[in-house]
Amino acid sequence: MCGIFGLISKKNVLKSCINGLKLLEYRGYDSFGIAGLTKDNMFLYKKPGKISLLEENLKNIKVHLSLAIGHTRWATHGKPTKLNAHPHMDHKSSIALVHNGIIENFDEIKKMLISKNIHFQTDTDTEVIVQLITYYYKNDLIKATKKALNKLIGSYAIALIHKDYPNQIIASSKESPLAIAIDEKKDEMLISSDPNAFLGKDLNITFLSNNEIALITNKKINIYSNTLNLLNKKYERFNSKKISANKNGYEHYMLKEIYEQPITIQKAYFGRILDFNKKVEFEDFNLSKNYLQNLNHIFILACGTSYHAALYAKYLIEDLAKTHVFAEIASEMRMKELLITNKDLAIAISQSGETADTLLATKLIKNYDSNILAIINKTNSTLSREATSYIFVKAGPEFSVCSTKAFTSQITVMYLFAIYLASIKKIDKLNTSLLLKELKKIPSKIKKVLKLAPQIKILAKKYSKYEKFFFLGRNYMYVAALEAALKLKEISYINANAYPAGELKHGPLALACEDHPVIAFLSNEKTYDKMLSNLMEIKARNAPILAIASKKSKAIEDIADDVIYLPKTIDELSILPSSVASQLLAYYIAKERKTDIDQPRNLAKSVTVE
Ligand code: F6R
Repeated sequence: MCGIFGLISKKNVLKSCINGLKLLEYRGYDSFGIAGLTKDNMFLYKKPGKISLLEENLKNIKVHLSLAIGHTRWATHGKPTKLNAHPHMDHKSSIALVHNGIIENFDEIKKMLISKNIHFQTDTDTEVIVQLITYYYKNDLIKATKKALNKLIGSYAIALIHKDYPNQIIASSKESPLAIAIDEKKDEMLISSDPNAFLGKDLNITFLSNNEIALITNKKINIYSNTLNLLNKKYERFNSKKISANKNGYEHYMLKEIYEQPITIQKAYFGRILDFNKKVEFEDFNLSKNYLQNLNHIFILACGTSYHAALYAKYLIEDLAKTHVFAEIASEMRMKELLITNKDLAIAISQSGETADTLLATKLIKNYDSNILAIINKTNSTLSREATSYIFVKAGPEFSVCSTKAFTSQITVMYLFAIYLASIKKIDKLNTSLLLKELKKIPSKIKKVLKLAPQIKILAKKYSKYEKFFFLGRNYMYVAALEAALKLKEISYINANAYPAGELKHGPLALACEDHPVIAFLSNEKTYDKMLSNLMEIKARNAPILAIASKKSKAIEDIADDVIYLPKTIDELSILPSSVASQLLAYYIAKERKTDIDQPRNLAKSVTVE
């Protein structure tokens, strides 16, 4: 799960390659590396750690590269060491190769090559690709590459250079995205795992399909089929403004993105609420009203935080639009019998639009003739190309690995979608106007939650000493609890488990004790009293309780050790203020524990392997 960038140009490409890799670091930041060709040598530089290290050392690197391939790694096979960092070289040191994906049969190929006396240096699956290409190489690099790739089982996007071919990069892909681009004005050829790394450029761009292979030289790009026939690929214009990554004075991107939410939530609904709060419409939406009216089921697939948005949408669509919804973890959905037909709708939710599990599940669903609606934040993503229709959540670039504003924008869009579907289905007693007016009040309520930061900071100091937490809620607040527990785990490395509060007595309550605090979400009118009873059961077991609620009561103050009071909204929207409060809590606890908040250990912003 890594990022690949490469280019050929008339000028020295080293700096451009580093800049490209920086924009791909969201795909992994365990190590980085660049290989290139000088007039007479192969240049190779790799290191564990983040690409910023290379920038620091750049002043000492005096080298002119007319072409380069680079890589930023999220370790799958082998520890994040210098040796395991890409690019990898063959035993003759003639080829350097970078890879994104996983080779499932690497062990078998490795054993075969070892039996031919080929010596391996790394623990990676990638090294078998480069060694296999050299093994097959007999004066025709593209044929040898194709022969080697045909032996691989798994997924890959690769790029390679050879010391005897000073003007060419070979690239290929299978189930891993790879964009190929030409900058005609600058006579520059580029490749990237994600076209967003081309931001600020004016290009013609195409994407490699499975098993295609590209031969990129300083003069032209030839793309061949699996049988090495030259293809006539269509290129599209890509002209996108550079997005500057800027913390705007905040200590971390995460905090900046938390504070953007009054605006990003507004952007998610802006222009989509029409006729004085009577109607919802989405731009460029191409699923027919007739089809939506007669839907059987909806399957929503996603991973991680986006899965929590899917679960919220399940509760909401069932409540408002009276349609049966299955919220599915994408990686699990692919492993079971799919009972989906062309009368159903599949919705894929993804911030990045590049998550491998979500993409693979989406591709699988295509075989069942079901329409796929993608809910995406990032434009130009693979998911937007796979879907029948899409709705952008418009949260803007999210740099912190820990998702905050993208989540609340996904929630906002799914809220609009549920209302849209309910009105198409002409559901009785649907108060569209009230639901939409309440949504419009949310940005100012989020501003009020953000003003609670000083109180939350003090509570974070108190609770940061604990090593395990329960997060509890019911109904929509169960989803808030799941998301809050994930935030805490990923940035503070504290074990946190979320449960529907009613489930606790069926096992987990055995863990309740004075060093196992409970964070309870009570901003759901419908489940308030039941939550209080559950909290009584916990109090009887001496667990510290921090309640996050919007309704004041003597009961809650008697039961909980601490209470954060949030602005009140309707149950259907209560997840928004609750999530923002829990994002702040996770942030300040992580800060107390001095973790790497924006780039937590072992994670990557975009998970591009299964
Ligand atoms: C957690 C987080 C992840 C992502 C998940 C899916 O803060 O960000 O759990 O939500 O990896 O990513 P997308 O939404 O890009 O498909």
